[in-house]
Amino acid sequence: MVNIKGSTVVVTGGQRGLGKAIVDEFLARGASKVYATARSPKLGDDPRVVSIPLDVTDANSVAALAQAAPDATIVVNNAGTLGDPSLLSSDIEDIRAVFETNYFGPLRVAQAFAPILARNGGGALVDIHSVLSWVSGAGSYGDSKAALWSSTNSLRIELRDQRTLVTGVHLGYTDTDMVKDVDAEKNDPKDVARQIVDGIEVDATEVLADDLTRHFKSALSGPVEALQLRVGSRP
Ligand SMILES: NC(=O)c1ccc[n+]([C@@H]2O[C@H](COP(=O)([O-])OP(=O)(O)OC[C@H]3O[C@@H](n4cnc5c(N)ncnc54)[C@H](OP(=O)(O)O)[C@@H]3O)[C@@H](O)[C@H]2O)c1
Repeated sequence: MVNIKGSTVVVTGGQRGLGKAIVDEFLARGASKVYATARSPKLGDDPRVVSIPLDVTDANSVAALAQAAPDATIVVNNAGTLGDPSLLSSDIEDIRAVFETNYFGPLRVAQAFAPILARNGGGALVDIHSVLSWVSGAGSYGDSKAALWSSTNSLRIELRDQRTLVTGVHLGYTDTDMVKDVDAEKNDPKDVARQIVDGIEVDATEVLADDLTRHFKSALSGPVEALQLRVGSRP
């Protein structure tokens, strides 16, 4: 059982978008301290928030974050980026760059914080996936989120003995900069953040934030042709 009240939380990409909503939700639910990262961090006025630099593609940056946050009890891998929706016309280096942020980045963070979470009693590791971990047509973004989903599920096994809860979060379109040009119904980031903290409170291994996501989770046992949005969709 992971306590939210009194917790110390790390949220990667915690200064805007969904990450900022997650920071606010933890604070509202009684977290004592939140490390909120950005590549160019801005100072805030809440003394409970530690503004700290992080580029998840840089191993030294991740190591420095872990050194600065030895009291972490909950780590949220929220940082993520989009890529070109076409695999065939993408440069391999561009695809690799998406994986650096969306797959290797969270894995670096997990490796750096696993011993810290163990020392602090187990705690929780939360990975933000997407409905596109399961749905095709979104190029390197979907590929990287599928890989992250798999990594989360393997880490759950590796972290079991140290009693770390590992929670994977899947969501569709959510109202942030990432999809500002998409004209579609979108989740409120505050609602997604509330569901994430609710999930941690009850030791949930998976949080499915909306009906679209629940639909595609249930469609996984059906034909693969049913697992697609229109090409170019990238929630
Ligand atoms: N919005 C959606 O529709 C949607 C749907 C499904 C899943 N998601 C996932 O939700 C998470 C949050 O996305 P969002 O919607 O809030 O997107 P966003 O508004 O584009 O914000 C992206 C966040 O990721 C951080 N970030 C990007 N590259 C980084 C790097 N190399 N190192 C460290 N931080 C980096 C950014 O931090 P800086 O401040 O440093 O730029 C920013 O906080 C992502 O994992 C995304 O894939 C979003």
